[in-house]
Amino acid sequence: MFENERISTPKRLSLDSDEGSLRPLHLKEFIGHKDMKKQFGIYIKAALGRNENLDHVLLYGPPGLGKTTFATIISHELGVGFKSTSAPAIERTGDLAAILSSLKFCEVLFIDEIHRLKPILEEILYPALEDYSLDIIIGQGPGAKSIKISLQPFTLIGATTKAGLLSAPLRARFGITQRIDFYNSKEIFEIVKRSARILHIDINDEGAMTIANRSRGTPRVANRILRRIRDIAEVEGNGYIDEEMAHKGLEILNLDKLGLDTMDKRLVDTIISKYDGGPVGVETLAVSLGEDREAIEDIYEPYLIQIGFLKRTQKGRVATKHAYDHLGLQYKNTVEGELF
Ligand SMILES: Nc1ncnc2c1ncn2[C@@H]1O[C@H](COP(=O)(O)OP(=O)(O)OP(=O)(O)O)[C@@H](O)[C@H]1O
Ligand SMILES: [Mg+2]
Repeated sequence: MFENERISTPKRLSLDSDEGSLRPLHLKEFIGHKDMKKQFGIYIKAALGRNENLDHVLLYGPPGLGKTTFATIISHELGVGFKSTSAPAIERTGDLAAILSSLKFCEVLFIDEIHRLKPILEEILYPALEDYSLDIIIGQGPGAKSIKISLQPFTLIGATTKAGLLSAPLRARFGITQRIDFYNSKEIFEIVKRSARILHIDINDEGAMTIANRSRGTPRVANRILRRIRDIAEVEGNGYIDEEMAHKGLEILNLDKLGLDTMDKRLVDTIISKYDGGPVGVETLAVSLGEDREAIEDIYEPYLIQIGFLKRTQKGRVATKHAYDHLGLQYKNTVEGELF
């Protein structure tokens, strides 16, 4: 199955194009992550009080949990402009230099997928992050000259699903590093209610809770399921989403009671039936499933690990008793390997 067919993928799909309208703009509208909101509230207030730029921020965590959203909130709360790009979109040093020199005092530069920044671009970024200057080489060969251009102080917000791939020197230049984790069902419930309000969807608490429980702790998935169930409720009912309608919708969408779909089950089932419960290396698993390693590591695994169905060990992936139980299989794996 392709990623863009999965209702439960945390990855952004084209059908999420109205995601922008659901994005909270202020800290108080951002649901969950209380400690993070409190800390950032303080950092932002302090920076404003000193009339200085906020320290550079690295946001990391699985897809669809609010990294981009939180970055835009930071710029709103600072009351400054937000320039957004992504590392793969920046090709040449000149492009990055142009972006950096266009930044105004205290503005936010958001670089998505920052782990994919080319080393040559990182070199340009270091002096910009440290002393707000650019070292530019003009000309070639023996006549080449290096000139220094000063920049306005700014805040870089980097986002990544793979913090581990960031180079150590780049990582060290972020004053604030924040992980954004999965949400609990109560928080997702509130997100569903909020989105329903914005989209004028008629839903009761039981309906919203039923959707929340299948959303894999991921706001993007919750919003997508909500929109799909709205369609179903309009066609199969009178548009109102109560518990019964939510259940009916989830059945049509093929999501089980943990929000797992065919692909998740195929992954777990492959480890169990083909590899005796594991351990199996992620590469081997990728070949067996006809998926790429990145998709397994970034998209499927984090939630399966979060709910305790999979373990990552040094020897590979292992299915846990939980996973066997959920699939109605007899647990027989005794090799659990060593956790790292
Ligand atoms: N805490 C939250 N409260 C309310 N809505 C949220 C929250 N976090 C995320 N969302 C919603 O989820 C959607 C996806 O969030 P976002 O795009 O910020 O995720 P992301 O972490 O940047 O994902 P990716 O790694 O794919 O870039 C947003 O449109 C937003 O409406
Ligand atoms: Mg994002």
